[in-house]
Amino acid sequence: MRRPRLRSLRNKLALLFLGITAIALTVMYVAVVPQLESNLRAQKLADLERVANGAESALEGLMGREDISAQELDRRVRSIADSAGARITLLGVQQSRQSGPEEPFYVITDTREEPEVPQNPALARRAAGSGALARGQGALDGEELGQVAQPLSFRGESNWVALYSRSLEDVSDTVSLIRNRLLLATAAALLLALIGGYGVAQALARRVRRLEAGAEQVAAGNFIEPLPVDSEDELGQLTRTFNEMQQQLRRVDVARKDFVATASHELRTPIFSLGGFVELLRDEELDEATRREFIDTMAEQVERLQKLAVDLLDLSRLDAGSVQLECEPVDLSEVARAVTSEFLPVLTPPRPEVQLRLPEPGVQARCDRGRVAQIIRILIDNALTHTPERTQVTVTSGRSNGTARLTVADEGPGLPAETQVFERFTTGQNTRGAGLGLAIAVELAERMDGDIRTEARPVGTAFTLRLPADDGASGP
Ligand SMILES: Nc1ncnc2c1ncn2[C@@H]1O[C@H](COP(=O)(O)OP(=O)(O)OP(=O)(O)O)[C@@H](O)[C@H]1O
Ligand SMILES: [Mg+2]
Repeated sequence: MRRPRLRSLRNKLALLFLGITAIALTVMYVAVVPQLESNLRAQKLADLERVANGAESALEGLMGREDISAQELDRRVRSIADSAGARITLLGVQQSRQSGPEEPFYVITDTREEPEVPQNPALARRAAGSGALARGQGALDGEELGQVAQPLSFRGESNWVALYSRSLEDVSDTVSLIRNRLLLATAAALLLALIGGYGVAQALARRVRRLEAGAEQVAAGNFIEPLPVDSEDELGQLTRTFNEMQQQLRRVDVARKDFVATASHELRTPIFSLGGFVELLRDEELDEATRREFIDTMAEQVERLQKLAVDLLDLSRLDAGSVQLECEPVDLSEVARAVTSEFLPVLTPPRPEVQLRLPEPGVQARCDRGRVAQIIRILIDNALTHTPERTQVTVTSGRSNGTARLTVADEGPGLPAETQVFERFTTGQNTRGAGLGLAIAVELAERMDGDIRTEARPVGTAFTLRLPADDGASGP
């Protein structure tokens, strides 16, 4: 197959699904999780701050008490720490700096019975220096701590700093749990995206391929069964349109083949007949009268061929849309008079007589003069051809509701029953025409935004050409 595999719709869609999923999960991993972690830490510290504020006065109360022993102080601070749910390290501010500038604080008490004490001198210094709560983080024995340092004052002197500590391990645990789960979810989502994307794309690609194969068949001239429309999505719509297009093409194809077959048949008959007469004329012993008769018949056939050639050319031009129409204000009565006069040479009795009943002033229509004359010629020709001798043909014109009308009525036998006289090559019995006149007339009328109607009459037939009337406003 000529389809490049890597660029196939299936691969593209599967990769797209995969890419989108990967991007979404990476954003979660890189942006959302760290944010969550820092939020959790901040929340922990805010909580610790609240606890510190709550315990401030109780601790400050202990500062001025000379009367309580170190054990008692330990006990009281521990009970405060228990109710606060945090470890409290009470630091005293070194009054003399002899012990060294690195250790400005000494531990008064710590609420855990552990040798190691979580000191955070920098934080304590910050709190003591500013006289306000300071937040920070520390570590003890490899354990991360969230810490708040609170300066305590007694009688205007702030000699103590309370350091509240809480482990941040649970935050890390929570975050690493989320990370792990997210990794698992990522793996599952990527797999699903790949499989899902591939599956969806596979189904789409199958339907597209079916359409492609159908189109190839039609392009090769083979009409196929309508493709199944199995969903209402865009591809379903495309399939439906494809089916309609195929049907339309099939109709056009059938019509074209019919047309060519009928046209060549119509052309063949007079040509064979002419060939036959040429053979007969070669006979030297032919008497003059017969020869003249043959030549007259041949002239008739040639005339028929000429008319047929012109009609076929007209039809093919109409089909190709290459008929140029120049619409202008045209007086229908005047054209009808001119066309009728063309028939005068053949209108000798016993042929039907043409009577004009055209009002003065004329009826103005917007149309192409030459093409309207052609339509009227076709209608009058029919009225003279398909009617008995010594009858009357009447041509009338009029106008109503923005429509200009021209009617050719005869006293003939009426239209043959159940015959679509406007179809190409449709003729009644015992007629010698090709059956193209009315087909051309009706198409020309439609091109000029008009139409041709037949009217049922007790006697004869009436064809009415209707065209948009010209009210003179749009003219120069
Ligand atoms: N005025 C009419 N009276 C009775 N029958 C008519 C009349 N006009 C048309 N028809 C019928 O309609 C058929 C189709 O007419 P149309 O003009 O298309 O073809 P045609 O006259 O047979 O041949 P063509 O016009 O191509 O030489 C005619 O064969 C005839 O049977
Ligand atoms: Mg005709």
